[in-house]
Amino acid sequence: MSPPLAGEIVAPPIPEYLKKVYWWAYLHPKAVHLFEREWLVNLILWGNYQPLCDAALADLRGAGQQRILQVACVYGDLTERLLGLMEPQSRLDVIDVAPIQLDNLQKKLAPDTRLHLHQQDSRSLSFAEGSFDRTLLFFLLHEQPEEVRRATLAEALRVTRPGGKVVIVDYHRPLPGHPLYLVMKMILGTLEPFALDLWRQEIRDYLPPTANLVSFDKVTSFRGLYQKIVIQP
Ligand SMILES: C[S@@+](CC[C@H](N)C(=O)[O-])C[C@H]1O[C@@H](n2cnc3c(N)ncnc32)[C@H](O)[C@@H]1O
Repeated sequence: MSPPLAGEIVAPPIPEYLKKVYWWAYLHPKAVHLFEREWLVNLILWGNYQPLCDAALADLRGAGQQRILQVACVYGDLTERLLGLMEPQSRLDVIDVAPIQLDNLQKKLAPDTRLHLHQQDSRSLSFAEGSFDRTLLFFLLHEQPEEVRRATLAEALRVTRPGGKVVIVDYHRPLPGHPLYLVMKMILGTLEPFALDLWRQEIRDYLPPTANLVSFDKVTSFRGLYQKIVIQP
């Protein structure tokens, strides 16, 4: 892990919702062993893992010496692909609140001086305002209770420079008649108690009311089940 930043001296505790709801997916060593398989992540996303990664990466690539923040680790090869697109002088910071996830990410990536890992909670990041050109949240918000989701979005906007981009990929309410509508409603309603919030409400509704945005663009895919949002603060 990278040396602590100012304000990062004390490692944040694992949030209660993560311990209670997602221990089986992110915290247990056997979970990491089980889920760190791209075919399984792809199955969970109904074959859409690579298209969803492509959609995120399309808004993260760009000329120059970029500084990118990935908020939370992701199973599969998204971070590796992101590094593959970045210039030699760029820098990628990845935060996660779970040390086991940061260790797993470190192990699956080749050593890279552009990569910096930090144990941080997305609710209160130890980065200065406007530190990043791009900030990525990939399937994080649906796993967070509403107040955590609001704080995460506020922090993502705070640490992204004006004119930069916050890129969000997550679940969305599918179109009526979607063949997976009922199956997904049952799966998310059973295993992921905060996820259906994103079916009921727009991510825009969770942004700070005072947020001053240059632009806010949303596209959906797979007949509405997934969304990508690109915000320019
Ligand atoms: C990005 S999300 C979901 C990713 C997606 N399901 C996948 O892996 O393909 C999972 C990560 O979010 C992290 N996480 C959840 N709440 C967090 C928080 N408040 N701060 C930082 N990381 C958090 C978990 O520890 C986990 O590593």
